Amino acid sequence: MARRVFSGIQPTGAIHIGNYLGAVRNWARLQDQIDSYFCIVDYHAVTIPYDPREMPTRVFEAAVDLLASGIDPQKCTFFIQSYVPEHTELCWIFNSFAPLGALERMTQFKEKRDQFRESVNAGLFTYPVLQAADILLYKADLVPVGEDQLQHLELCRDIARRFNYRFGAAFPEPEAELTPAARIMALNDPTRKMSKSIPGSYVNLSDSDDAIRRAIRTAVTDVGPRGAEMSSGVANLFTLLAAFSAPETMARFRNEYDAGTLRYVDLKNQLAEDLVRAIAPIRARREELMAHPERVWQIMDAGAERARAIAVQTMAEVREKMGLRRGGR
Ligand code: TYM
Repeated sequence: MARRVFSGIQPTGAIHIGNYLGAVRNWARLQDQIDSYFCIVDYHAVTIPYDPREMPTRVFEAAVDLLASGIDPQKCTFFIQSYVPEHTELCWIFNSFAPLGALERMTQFKEKRDQFRESVNAGLFTYPVLQAADILLYKADLVPVGEDQLQHLELCRDIARRFNYRFGAAFPEPEAELTPAARIMALNDPTRKMSKSIPGSYVNLSDSDDAIRRAIRTAVTDVGPRGAEMSSGVANLFTLLAAFSAPETMARFRNEYDAGTLRYVDLKNQLAEDLVRAIAPIRARREELMAHPERVWQIMDAGAERARAIAVQTMAEVREKMGLRRGGR
């Protein structure tokens, strides 16, 4: 039985349905069952070029979206990474436990290296080390994430193992928790995952009904003639249908697909309407929170204070084990 949950999300502005289905919906479920820590990881976001004037809004929007999606500060500890400086302190320590070869193999790093050819910095390289620090600072043993984070989690376990071996048992080896929708594909290019960095690939939780309908209507289904295997575009729509529609609806469309009578336009219309219905209440809560920014910042301040109480203890233990600062204090 897991003891503590940790997960994080980058402040890229509004959250998309990939984040929601792959991670956030699971967070809202887990907070009812286990001591949970959820974090907006702004220190991770500074590893790529950005405008500092936009950062506060990005963080605020992420906070609002998560609260509107059901993250409840009464049930979990919800906070912003940079308010708890121990994350970066532990990251520095963990840099000495992270094998260079493993960091070089990280898919996300390789993608970013190709994307920012001229300006690849050390922060992008040690990004997964900070992620390990996020999780282990709270000694979390369960990490609800989408599939793209599995490799980073493997490294986190490796770092925990190496630290424990060298300085004595301090950290658990955290496991991932995936949802059935752990990899939602881009609507306009189902060979890639849905992502903020691919325009037209996503639906945001803040999108209007019309924008949602448009995005689903223009989603790629089959490229070329229909083959024996379901194409990745159609499979993606079925994954979304399973997540947002009633089981009977899903079964009906699946039967039609198997019988060869399915019209994609019907599938899309159904999905669009169910998505509109699911997102409308989230958007309403979102708008209400947007109108009360002080309330949101207060929640985030209180969350950071709670998180910090644990973070300080872990760092004292780490320093003590490592012979730093006379007794770790
Ligand atoms: P980020 O901000 O890219 O994504 C947040 C969460 O959403 C999931 N996700 C998806 N799931 C399914 N389909 C998709 N298309 C999709 N796109 C994103 C991600 O897997 C993730 O769970 N490095 C992390 C943030 C992080 C973190 C952590 C996560 C920092 N520290 C500690 C867990 C634990 C990231 O960039 O997620």
